[in-house]
Amino acid sequence: MESFRVLYLYTLLICFIKPLTSRDIITPGNLLRDGETLVSSRGFFELGFFSPGSSNARYLGAWYKKSPSTIFWVANRDKPLNNDRGNGVLQLNDRGVLLLLDASNNNTVWSSNNSSIKEYNPFVQLLDSGNLVVKIGYGSDNSGNLEQLLWQSFDYPCDTLMPGMKLGWDQETGSNRFLSSWKSSDDPGRGDYAMKVDRRGYPQIFELKGSEVMVRAGSWNGFSLTGFANHIPDPVINAEFVMNEKEVYFKLDLINNSVFFRYVINPSGIGQSFDWVIQRSGWRVVHTGTPDTCANYALCGTNSICNISNNPVCECLRGYAPKNLKDWNVSDWNGGCTRRVSLNCDGGDGFKQYTGIKLPDTSSSWYNMTMDLEECKKTCLQNCSCVAYSNLDIRGEGSGCLIWFDQLLDMKQFPTGGQDLYVRVLASDLDHFRDEGRGSMGKKKLYGIAVGCALFVMSIMILGSTLIAKKRKLRNSRKEVMNIPTFGLSIIIKATDNFSIVNKLGEGGFGPVYKGTLEDGQELAVKRLSTKSGQGFEELRNEVELIAKLQHRNLVKLIGCCIEGEEKLLIYEYMPNKSLDHFIFDETHSKLLDWLKRWHIVHGIARGLVYLHIDSRLRIIHRDLKTSNILLDAFMNPKISDFGLARTFWDDQIEANTNKVVGTYGYMPPEYVTRGQFSMKSDVFSFGVIVLEIVSGKKNRIFSDPEYYLNLLGHAWRLWMQGRAMELLDECLKESYAESEVMRCIQVGLLCVQQRAEDRPDMSAIVSMLIGEKLLPQPKAPGFYTSSDFPRDLTSLHQRSIQFSQNEISETTLLGR
Ligand SMILES: *[C@@H]1O[C@H](CO)[C@@H](O)[C@H](O)[C@H]1NC(C)=O
Ligand SMILES: *[C@@H]1O[C@H](CO)[C@@H](O)[C@H](O)[C@H]1NC(C)=O
Ligand SMILES: *[C@@H]1O[C@H](CO)[C@@H](O)[C@H](O)[C@H]1NC(C)=O
Ligand SMILES: *[C@@H]1O[C@H](CO)[C@@H](O)[C@H](O)[C@H]1NC(C)=O
Ligand SMILES: *[C@@H]1O[C@H](CO)[C@@H](O)[C@H](O)[C@H]1NC(C)=O
Ligand SMILES: *[C@@H]1O[C@H](CO)[C@@H](O)[C@H](O)[C@H]1NC(C)=O
Ligand SMILES: *[C@@H]1O[C@H](CO)[C@@H](O)[C@H](O)[C@H]1NC(C)=O
Ligand SMILES: *[C@@H]1O[C@H](CO)[C@@H](O)[C@H](O)[C@H]1NC(C)=O
Repeated sequence: MESFRVLYLYTLLICFIKPLTSRDIITPGNLLRDGETLVSSRGFFELGFFSPGSSNARYLGAWYKKSPSTIFWVANRDKPLNNDRGNGVLQLNDRGVLLLLDASNNNTVWSSNNSSIKEYNPFVQLLDSGNLVVKIGYGSDNSGNLEQLLWQSFDYPCDTLMPGMKLGWDQETGSNRFLSSWKSSDDPGRGDYAMKVDRRGYPQIFELKGSEVMVRAGSWNGFSLTGFANHIPDPVINAEFVMNEKEVYFKLDLINNSVFFRYVINPSGIGQSFDWVIQRSGWRVVHTGTPDTCANYALCGTNSICNISNNPVCECLRGYAPKNLKDWNVSDWNGGCTRRVSLNCDGGDGFKQYTGIKLPDTSSSWYNMTMDLEECKKTCLQNCSCVAYSNLDIRGEGSGCLIWFDQLLDMKQFPTGGQDLYVRVLASDLDHFRDEGRGSMGKKKLYGIAVGCALFVMSIMILGSTLIAKKRKLRNSRKEVMNIPTFGLSIIIKATDNFSIVNKLGEGGFGPVYKGTLEDGQELAVKRLSTKSGQGFEELRNEVELIAKLQHRNLVKLIGCCIEGEEKLLIYEYMPNKSLDHFIFDETHSKLLDWLKRWHIVHGIARGLVYLHIDSRLRIIHRDLKTSNILLDAFMNPKISDFGLARTFWDDQIEANTNKVVGTYGYMPPEYVTRGQFSMKSDVFSFGVIVLEIVSGKKNRIFSDPEYYLNLLGHAWRLWMQGRAMELLDECLKESYAESEVMRCIQVGLLCVQQRAEDRPDMSAIVSMLIGEKLLPQPKAPGFYTSSDFPRDLTSLHQRSIQFSQNEISETTLLGR
C-alpha cells in the first residue's frame, strides 16, 4: 500500500511538470521537492528550497511568508545542494528521521537523526512559531494528546532567535543551543560570530567572535540581562532565564500575537532585534547591539569601570590604581587596575556602594538564590578573596547573593537603570571618603589652580615650540608601536599594475586611490599620498601605526603601509560597494538602498564618529566628512574613511583655530568656514548634512529650491517648520519606510546643522537620540541655509585665497589664510 502511494506520487511528478505547490504536513513517502513548500497552519511561515543572495546553491530553509527573503532557519547550512536547481528532496523515513537528499545521486546531504527505531505514524509540521517539528501520533487528528515530539528545528538554531526558542543548555544531554551568524548574505554557512549561554560561575550570555568575547550581554537579574539598563517590561516580548538541573536557557516569548519578533546576528556580528506589527509594511529595528564603546568586552581591563560620559572613559575603582600608569595615560586600559594597598582581611574592611552599574563578569562567581544582602555581605567578609557582592535578583526588595573573587571585569556605568554593586575597600579608604565633604574643598581648589597653571605653561610651550611637542609625540608613539605590515613597493606596483588608470578608484583629499590585487587574490585599496606633506619617514610611520590601532567596525581598516623613497602609500581594506554618494545621488543605484539600509547606515556612521571623537585614544576630528568618504562594504555597512589623515596632515590640536581651512563645501559649518574654528562639533555639522542627504537623496551643495533660493538645509528647515518634513523623503523610499524613524533622522539632522556649535548635540547624544533613548529638542534655524551663503562668506567676508580643485571627485578644498 505504502509503496503504491510512492509510485503513484512519482508518476504524478513525472506526468505533470508543474510541481505540487504547498501543503501543511509531510509523512513518509510524501516528499517535498524543490519548488514546493510546507506552510504553517495560520500561514505565517513557509519551509522550502531557496538560494540566498546572489548564490546559486540550494538550501532547505524556513522564512516568513510575508517576507520570503527573511530566512530564519536553514537545515543544510554548511552543505549546500549543488547548483542545479530542482535536485533537492526532503523525505521523512518511517523511523521519523528527516532526510535531505540530492536526487541526482541519492546522497544524503543532511538529516535530523535522533531516533533509530521504527516509529508509529511519524509526520512533519511547520508550527506557527516557525518551529519545524517531527512528531509521532495521529497527524491529521489534531488531538495533540497522542502526539510526541521526536525532533525540532528550534534545537538547532541558525542566526535567528525566534520567540519560544531556548538559547542555552540541555544539561542532561550536554547539548548547547546557540546562535551563529551566516558567513555572508550569500552563504548561510556557520560564520565567525556566535551568541552563547556560558554556564561557568553564574550563567551569562556572551557574543563571541570565534572564541573571543566581543560583548557580554550578562547574567539574569530577574528583569533582564545585566547588560541592558532598562527594567521596563516590553509590551511585545517577555524574556525569561531558566536555571535548574535539567536546563539553563534564555527564552523570549511573544505577549502580543499580532506582532512578529526576531533577534538576528548578522554576518558582521551585529545583533539586532526586529519587530513587525501586522499593520505596518515591514521590519523595524527595535534594538541594535553595542551602541557605545563601553559595550566592548573588558575595555577597561580589571577593577575599573567604563563611563561613557567620562573622559577618559575608564576609571579605576576606589582603592585601586592603574597597573601601568604610562599605558593608562595613553588610553591603553588593557592592563587594568590593582589595589593600592592590599586588604587586611581582619574584619575591618568595608564596602563602597556603586549604583547604576552593569555588574562585572560572573564567570567565576559564587551565588546563592535565597540569601539576603546582609548575609551576602557577611559571606563576602569571611573570604579574603571576595572583592564584591550584589543582589542576584533585583525585583522588589532584591534577593539572592552574588559574589566575586579576586578581580572585577567588564563593568559599566549606566546613565539610568543598572544595579547596585558593593565593592570591598580598606576601612581607611572608607573613612577617607566619608570625610571628603569637609576636607576635599581646599584640595580641589588647589588642584584647580595647579591645573590652570599647567595649562597656561603648556599653551606657552605649544606656542613656543611645536618641535618639542612633536619630538615628545614621536617618543610616545614609539613606545606603543604595534607594528603594522609594510608592503614592498614592488609588490604594490605589481598589484596596481603600476598605478594604472584602469585601477584608479577615485581621488581622495590626500591623493588618488587605486585598487590592487595581490598574487594570492586579496584585494586592496591603495592610497597614494601626495608628496606635498613635509612629513618625514619616521614621523609618518609612527603616525600610521597609531592610526592602525583605531579599529571599529564603522571605520575603514588600515592594513598596512609602504614608505619607500618619495612614495608614501597607505593600504586599506577594499570596499566593493564604493562610497555612499554612488548610491544615494544616483537614480538607479538609489533604489538599492531601501529605508532600512539607510537607517543602518546613519547609525553606523554615528557609531564610527563616537569612536573617533570619544573613545579612540587619538580623539580624532575628521574635518572632511562627506558622503564620498563613507564607504560601503559588501553588506552595505558604512565605514568612514580618511579619518586618521586629519591628524597626520594637519596640526593635531583638539579644539583650535587653524590657518588652513580644509574641507568640502556643503559640509563645513559656519564657524569653520568664516573663522577657521574647528571642534568635534564641526564633524557633527557634516554628519547632519550627510543625514539629510541620505534621507532626501539630494546633494546639499547642488540642491537649490527654485522658489526660496534655499539649499538642502534651508529646504529641510522650511518643510520642518511647515510640518511637512516627510516631503523631504527621497521618492524612491516612499514604498517602505517607518515614519517615526524618518522623522527622527530629519530632526537629528537639523539639530546637527544648527548655526551655533553649542546648539549641536555631541555624537554620543546623537546615538542615544537615534536609538530613541533621548528626547529630541526642537531644532532652530540651521547654519548656512541659503544657497548663496557659501560663496559670500568665503569671498567677501574674509579675504582668503581659494584654491578650487578642478577635479570633481576631489571636492576637498584647501584655503590658505
Ligand atoms: C534514487 O533512489 C530511488 C528510489 O530508491 C531510485 O528509484 C533511483 O533510481 C535512485 N537514483 C539514483 C540516481 O541512484
Ligand atoms: C546525525 O548523526 C550524526 C552521527 O551521530 C551526526 O554527525 C550528525 O550531526 C547528526 N545530524 C543531525 C542533523 O543532528
Ligand atoms: C529526539 O529529540 C526530541 C526533542 O529534542 C527528544 O524529546 C527525544 O527524546 C529525542 N529522541 C531520542 C531517541 O533521542
Ligand atoms: C497587539 O499589538 C497591536 C499592534 O501594536 C495592537 O493594536 C493591539 O492592541 C495589541 N494587542 C494587545 C492585546 O496588546
Ligand atoms: C560618569 O561621567 C559623568 C561625566 O563625567 C559624571 O558626571 C558621572 O558622575 C560619572 N559617573 C560616575 C558614577 O562616576
Ligand atoms: C600620567 O598622568 C598623570 C596625571 O596626568 C601624571 O601625574 C603622571 O605623571 C603620568 N604618568 C606617566 C608615567 O606618564
Ligand atoms: C543558601 O543560603 C541559605 C541561607 O544561608 C542556606 O540555607 C542554603 O543552604 C544555601 N544554599 C546553597 C546552595 O548554598
Ligand atoms: C574563598 O573563595 C574561593 C573561591 O570560591 C575558594 O576557593 C576559597 O577556598 C575560599 N576561601 C575560604 C577561606 O573560604
